[in-house]
Amino acid sequence: MDVVDIIRSKRDGHRLADDQIDWFIEAYTAGAVADEQASALLMAIVWRGMEPDELARWTAAMIASGTRLDLTGVGRPTVDKHSTGGVGDKVSLILCPLVAACGAAVPQLSGRGLGHTGGTLDKLEAIPGWSPDLSTEAMIATLRDVGGVICAAGGDLAPADRKLYALRDVTGTVEAIPLIASSIMSKKIAEGTDALVLDVKVGSGAFLPDVDLARELARTMVELGAAHGVRTSALLTAMDTPLGRTAGNALEVTESVEVLAGGGPDDLVEVTLALAREMLSLAGIEADPAAALADGRAMDVWRAMIAAQGGDPDAPLPRAGHIETVPAPADGVLTRLDARSVGIAAWRLGAGRARKEDPVSPTAGVVMLAKPGDDVRAGQPLLELHTDEPDRLPRALDALDGAFSIDASGSEPETLPLVIDRIGP
Ligand code: URA
Repeated sequence: MDVVDIIRSKRDGHRLADDQIDWFIEAYTAGAVADEQASALLMAIVWRGMEPDELARWTAAMIASGTRLDLTGVGRPTVDKHSTGGVGDKVSLILCPLVAACGAAVPQLSGRGLGHTGGTLDKLEAIPGWSPDLSTEAMIATLRDVGGVICAAGGDLAPADRKLYALRDVTGTVEAIPLIASSIMSKKIAEGTDALVLDVKVGSGAFLPDVDLARELARTMVELGAAHGVRTSALLTAMDTPLGRTAGNALEVTESVEVLAGGGPDDLVEVTLALAREMLSLAGIEADPAAALADGRAMDVWRAMIAAQGGDPDAPLPRAGHIETVPAPADGVLTRLDARSVGIAAWRLGAGRARKEDPVSPTAGVVMLAKPGDDVRAGQPLLELHTDEPDRLPRALDALDGAFSIDASGSEPETLPLVIDRIGP
């Protein structure tokens, strides 16, 4: 096989042959294809795209670069959720114990956050003692006994993706639907789940802000799931405004626990319940997730999940040493609070990382004291900025310049509906 022929073929707009795809993914993962050659092929895919069956084969080769877990031993239907990432998106923390409390097993193999959206593992690591690292045997045992696991993906889960994603990151080839879809779905399919719900975010804080592109990504991933025997559906959900009232690691854990205790902000509860219903439906379980939140069953599973990974669910969470408030400049209705700006502010306060080896602060973040639709008075605190490093505050404040609008005439907020669309069988 000649890698230059493969690059030329895609450059000229042809479908790659199955044996070319298998060979390329295996050889690149093994280090037998140079980064510059793989970069050229990735850029050709960005421009030329992939046929559906070609993409299914590409994804299959990525899965086959490692091991596909076998979760048949857990004794319950397995169903997972993947979000394309958003600001204040702590849904996984609530959804995993909630859907487990309704009778499913939820294997959430997660990654860390990069850029302005937080990572689920970073959030949970704010809990004293909690560790993301579990052996496959321990993960399966926790799924069987507790029902939910959120842990770090092991090194053998789609290793081709790890190499390709790192290369895409530095070659301007991340933003291509076939490459995003195969990257996400290879990891999720390799995890061994029977069913999968995708939360594809739309709006300024989303990875793909445009609704048409988000819909195309959702359709592509749903088709890839089906091609690999995983029942898959997607909800397109709003990410023009941050979800809930917090963005930042410990802050988001506290808010998630409020929802598990039967409270919490309405938008967060609504998106979580919509995803929970979708997951239970794909898993073939008839149960009311709202009841499992209200009667404390989801909280019981949360506590067991945290304890199973060394965490103390009763330990106080760390709090930031400095809190600065941003006041409302005028009286009126808050009509807009831009998700991306809040995410960048939280990131600059220390909640997120720019490179994957950077540490994150458990305490840094933003608390939103008002959300679109709320009446505010001039001088009233709108946002709290939390950090342990006050010299980070000026850049966080810069990110919030122009991030919100207040309308004195009392007009309606300009936000998207929370659940925009559903794609799936
Ligand atoms: N997340 C992934 O896992 N892969 C991508 O390509 C983009 C987002």
